Amino acid sequence: MPAPESILRFDGVSVIYDGVRVLDHVSFTLAAGETRVILGAAGAGKTVLLKTALGLISPDEGRVSLFNQEITGLRERQLFAIRAQVGMLFQESALFDSLTIEENVAYPLENQIGVRVDPAEVLPRVEAILKDVELGHTLDKFPNELSGGMRRRVGIARANVTYPKLVFYDSPTAGLDPITANNIMSLVIKQRDQRNTTTVIVSHRLQDGALMANYRFNSQSGKIERQRHTGALDTHTKFMVLQKGRLVFEGSEDELHASPDPYVAKFVLEQAQSA
Ligand SMILES: Nc1ncnc2c1ncn2[C@@H]1O[C@H](COP(=O)(O)OP(=O)(O)O)[C@@H](O)[C@H]1O
Ligand SMILES: [Mg+2]
Repeated sequence: MPAPESILRFDGVSVIYDGVRVLDHVSFTLAAGETRVILGAAGAGKTVLLKTALGLISPDEGRVSLFNQEITGLRERQLFAIRAQVGMLFQESALFDSLTIEENVAYPLENQIGVRVDPAEVLPRVEAILKDVELGHTLDKFPNELSGGMRRRVGIARANVTYPKLVFYDSPTAGLDPITANNIMSLVIKQRDQRNTTTVIVSHRLQDGALMANYRFNSQSGKIERQRHTGALDTHTKFMVLQKGRLVFEGSEDELHASPDPYVAKFVLEQAQSA
């Protein structure tokens, strides 16, 4: 039987800064169509993990494969071609302040190496995806004219405008109030379910993972709805917990809540109390 298509694979990956392992022998495999929620406290290594997955950071130990191709040691040009199939929302959105919202969202279509789009198709795509994140009237605005939540929505649009197979979201809800955070999460879910993208989301909020695991976008009604928590769904969304660079948990939402690992149990309990 052929192995399921592996979209992303870490094999004993370590990243060492100043003698400290900020990723410590991390191994996991992400299958096509999966949602992966990466939880952990500040400084646990979540952003380093995503950057390593994109080849922006080279691991000191171990190997990384993207779309079944080992990227460790790959030449820049080959790496760009692979990276072009991945959408990324960087922490704090990382929009270009001097570009309009339209230009920000068009940026990957026009400038990302390995992305090829007919120039006549750029504006319609940008307009459509901005409408999708409920920002249809902001094309001529600049990032500093938008609220934090709106900027996050622009970042979601930019991460998805190339229609990538795989999308990474780094802390999309950080620093937002709970209502805005839930709005952002519903847009992430909508993007995922409209195009069945494999999605990796980093968060310090357990709640974000629960939303990814238990809600889906219904294209018929155009609404986000609760999807009953079934066994099948369990395999669809997987959770990981990073503690000081070590992967201390990998499994379903139910397994997360039942984890005997003291750090994981404490993390879950604290989140429940603050919710
Ligand atoms: N370029 C760097 N140089 C040195 N240390 C770094 C660098 N980037 C990240 N670190 C350290 O690696 C650890 C993990 O960082 P990061 O992945 O950003 O954490 P988070 O889980 O909050 O995203 C932190 O201790 C951070 O200080
Ligand atoms: Mg981070």
